Amino acid sequence: MSESLYLPSTTNRQEIYESLLPQIKALVAGETDLTANLANISAALKEAFNFFWVGFYLKKENQLVLGPFQGPIACTRIHFNKGVCGHAYTTKEVVIVPDVEAFPGHIACSSASKSEIVLPAKDKNGEVFLVLDVDSDELNDFSEVDAVGLSQIIQLIEKMVM
Ligand code: SME
Repeated sequence: MSESLYLPSTTNRQEIYESLLPQIKALVAGETDLTANLANISAALKEAFNFFWVGFYLKKENQLVLGPFQGPIACTRIHFNKGVCGHAYTTKEVVIVPDVEAFPGHIACSSASKSEIVLPAKDKNGEVFLVLDVDSDELNDFSEVDAVGLSQIIQLIEKMVM
């Protein structure tokens, strides 16, 4: 594993995702511990995009519980029927929220958070076992480019538990 990420000097997110994906693959190759890999993935995403908050909530019994993340301290437990994370968990779909104040039931871990994207990861039975949550302090900061780029990272995570 290399010690540092190579990041292209561009603000084009698609190019950054394209550069980052093989590096994340290399970063997790050979490591079987899920927590260790999620920790490095959240650090890599923070470094590459300087997202306001990026991290994971893992399904534990009947709740989503905070896992590895980068950014300000956050809510530790989310019910399946609450917030954007709960919505992604129950619908099993990627959720993009351009304005969190317009999303009924949004959980404001930080008042600075303005928009977010949440992606579910599914196990071999199609059950969601974690969600990746990325928050921005700007409105309307996430697009299909993020949905596609982050989905590729979700696929890597899904392979870890297959
Ligand atoms: N906003 C999320 C909660 C998690 S934090 O923002 C880190 C939600 O509504 O599910």
